[in-house]
Amino acid sequence: MLLKNGNIEAIQMKSLLRINRAISRVRDLYSLVTLLASETSKVLDVERSTVFLYSRKTDELWSYVAEGESEEIRFSASQGIAGSVFRNEKTLILRDVSENERFNRTIDRTTGFITRNMITAPIINPSGVCIGVFQVINKKKGNFTDKDAEFLEIVSSETAVTIENVRLLESRKRMFESLIKALTVSIEARDPLTAGHSFDVTFLAGKIAEYMNIDADTREAIYYAALLHDYGKIAVPDSILKKPGNISEDEMSILKKHVQHTKIILSSIEFEGKLEQVPLFAAHHHERIDGKGYPDGLIGPEISIGGKIIAVADVFEALTAKRHYRDPYSLKKTLNLIISGIGTQFDKDAVLALRNYFLDIGKLKPEEVPLD
Ligand SMILES: [Fe+2]
Repeated sequence: MLLKNGNIEAIQMKSLLRINRAISRVRDLYSLVTLLASETSKVLDVERSTVFLYSRKTDELWSYVAEGESEEIRFSASQGIAGSVFRNEKTLILRDVSENERFNRTIDRTTGFITRNMITAPIINPSGVCIGVFQVINKKKGNFTDKDAEFLEIVSSETAVTIENVRLLESRKRMFESLIKALTVSIEARDPLTAGHSFDVTFLAGKIAEYMNIDADTREAIYYAALLHDYGKIAVPDSILKKPGNISEDEMSILKKHVQHTKIILSSIEFEGKLEQVPLFAAHHHERIDGKGYPDGLIGPEISIGGKIIAVADVFEALTAKRHYRDPYSLKKTLNLIISGIGTQFDKDAVLALRNYFLDIGKLKPEEVPLD
């Protein structure tokens, strides 16, 4: 025997600690389950591990992670050993599959893999619902022991908790995002002519951030800030917001206050961690590099990166869209106007990123939007 029992336990414990550390770091479910499968294969010294999840829709088990297989494996949840473990919710050790009539040979025939022995453990979530099975196949030396089965049960319950936690996080994120979008729709509903503005600004700000190689966390904050940058317009009366033609100085100062309202409203939302900068990014979308912007007249380095990016996207979208008082500008005219504002109104890198985006998608040629 390669390892004495005492050593196996020590190695298993170390592996569980490694898995736990990884779980607290990684947020992507597929990477986590892949890690759980590969650690399990190492510790139990098997040829492969497979994690099957249950699809309620089709009543099938399907391979979420299948080591050594590029194709998805899918079969009826009432079929084979996996199906039997899924239904009975009890771990099963098969030391010789040829002796078991429940073993489904179809999968081996399809994949070309030969199964000799296996342990299959149910994956039961914290609410007591079986959501799949964890299978380890072909012990490389000797055969499976009861201790191996115990270890697989521990890993299966880790897998269940991990899947539930990530699903919960994902559903909370979806709910949060849909609420933010509902807020955006509610402000867009004020004026049919500017409807879609915030969504278009969000798209363009995302492209600019991508072309500037901004990190993923900051990009997410920019995404929410762009969606909500004009939310403060909710406090601006219709008579000013929808007024065709010129507006008076007093009306303009009321309109400009939408930025302060945005900041106050967004500051009341508990944006956490990487999203903490959302209110600040949104509050900077009318600031200018030369300090002539509003509300605070900040100069270049004082303006947040999110504010600089949304400012470019906002003006670009506003000029290319139809307004109460004018027709839309062409893409070429708009981008040239924005380029002429580099260093005074706009951040150079943000403008170049937008220009590169339109050149890349073939909407403009470099000579149409010269830099000098
Ligand atoms: Fe605005």
